[in-house]
Amino acid sequence: METSPLAIFSTALLLTLYFLFRRRRAPKLPPGPPPLPVIGNLHQLGNLPHRGLRGLAKSYGPIMFLRLGNKPTVVVSSPEAAELVLRTHDNIFSSRPSVDALRHLSYGNKGMAFAESGAYWRGVRRLCMQQLLSPAKVESFAPMRKEELGKVVGRVRAAVSASEAAVDVSTEVGQLMGDMACRMVLGCSTRDKFNLKPAIHEALNLAGAFNLADYVPFLGALDLQGITRRAKAASRALDEVLEDIIREHEEDTTGKYKGDFIGTLLSMVGRSLNSSQDEPVHILGRTNIKAIALDMIAASYESSSSAIEWALAELIRSPRAMKRLQQELEAVVGLGRTVDESDLPKLNYLDMVVKESFRLYPPGPLLIPRKSTEDVEIGGYNIPKGTRVIVNAWALGRDTNAWGEDVEEFFPERFANGSVDVKGQDFQLIPFGSGRRGCPGMNMGLVNVRLALAQLVHCFDWELPEGRSPDELDMSEDFGLSMPRAKHLILRPSYRLLV
Ligand code: HEM
Repeated sequence: METSPLAIFSTALLLTLYFLFRRRRAPKLPPGPPPLPVIGNLHQLGNLPHRGLRGLAKSYGPIMFLRLGNKPTVVVSSPEAAELVLRTHDNIFSSRPSVDALRHLSYGNKGMAFAESGAYWRGVRRLCMQQLLSPAKVESFAPMRKEELGKVVGRVRAAVSASEAAVDVSTEVGQLMGDMACRMVLGCSTRDKFNLKPAIHEALNLAGAFNLADYVPFLGALDLQGITRRAKAASRALDEVLEDIIREHEEDTTGKYKGDFIGTLLSMVGRSLNSSQDEPVHILGRTNIKAIALDMIAASYESSSSAIEWALAELIRSPRAMKRLQQELEAVVGLGRTVDESDLPKLNYLDMVVKESFRLYPPGPLLIPRKSTEDVEIGGYNIPKGTRVIVNAWALGRDTNAWGEDVEEFFPERFANGSVDVKGQDFQLIPFGSGRRGCPGMNMGLVNVRLALAQLVHCFDWELPEGRSPDELDMSEDFGLSMPRAKHLILRPSYRLLV
């Protein structure tokens, strides 16, 4: 049979249409709001980006594409989508985008938290896990935690005896966590000679800010938000203190710093950070030590203090939960002594209270941004190499599909069956992130938060000053890497132990 030109033409047309159609059905970018010229979608983030992004995700879905300035960005807002990024494709999403302010604040990105994935980051993470964050090291700081917590209890008791109207709990908890972080990392407390906290607080705000210099590079030089100027000032203040501390370690002849974190790192100066000879070589030097120390203090102190403040604030607003927690403490510890770290595994309701507070107030509401290192498809969408990826952990904790309709309510009993944990396996609750870049300080963070909260609730009854009722407590949050409370928590304590 002869083939007619018409049949050949029709077949060619059909094949062309088929391939065109196939191309159109190939993975595409996730949906998202239309961007404006130059700034893209930056104007839609609002003052509290975790809330702004959740609002947008309600219209555009749990995998959403934004242009922040000229930076392609994907925002993930459901547990299923978070699992695709943090577990299924963890290796592709385990780098970090560069953050301009960090050039100044982290000695050109020589710390751990914002380092790109690769040999340097792996070496620093391994070093910190061995020398500071291993279970044995965390355990070894127990006497120091007891001593510092004892000082806070003493100060609050003194305020009770002096009939002071109220205590600034935020300042007390901030002081406690700052002192604990500095003693673990630097070998001395903040009050010995210096005060790192204002500069660290500033550094965390700057690192978490959506800085135009990161998104619209040609505006970077103008520093319209003043972020570069502030970062340089904070970095000078931090560097002076760190130099002092390192010098003191170097000149010490009494042996008091021997074996502490800085002392150990100083003894390793000049050594390679690599574990394999096939990697580019990174040698540990003085600048690396300063950047690493700063990262450890910054990552630990505000995250823990913010978690304690939010949990205590919610307990004030829920007298029922506060009573149940105090009853548990009375049963396990008794009113004849303070809480000991060895009591913690027996305090089940405390565990539920801490989880519920992390659900509503994750100290890293957007974790720390990730960056894709290859083209990859997630949820049927194409995510090109080099895309920033934001995981909205705050939105995951308020996902009604995962938690039910009462998501806004503080209800620790929702954890009674014990199946959901904070350790990075249950993607509706990831206050410490998950995967390769998940928080390496989780064990330390959890013991800090549980112990301090238990002690404050066991030793004191707390109420709002001037007879105000619990629902008058201002619960607004500030944005920053650690989502601090916008207003300090001011409470009236009364001592409740028999000793
Ligand atoms: C309640 C306490 C804490 C919370 C809620 C918290 C939360 C987080 C979160 C959400 C991340 C980002 C994870 C990701 O991208 O998947 C992170 C990373 C990190 N955290 Fe924590 N953290 C806490 C305590 C600590 C402590 C005590 C330390 C160390 C002393 C620490 C050191 C770090 C470091 C170095 C990173 C960066 C890890 C990397 O990029 O490889 N954190 N943390």
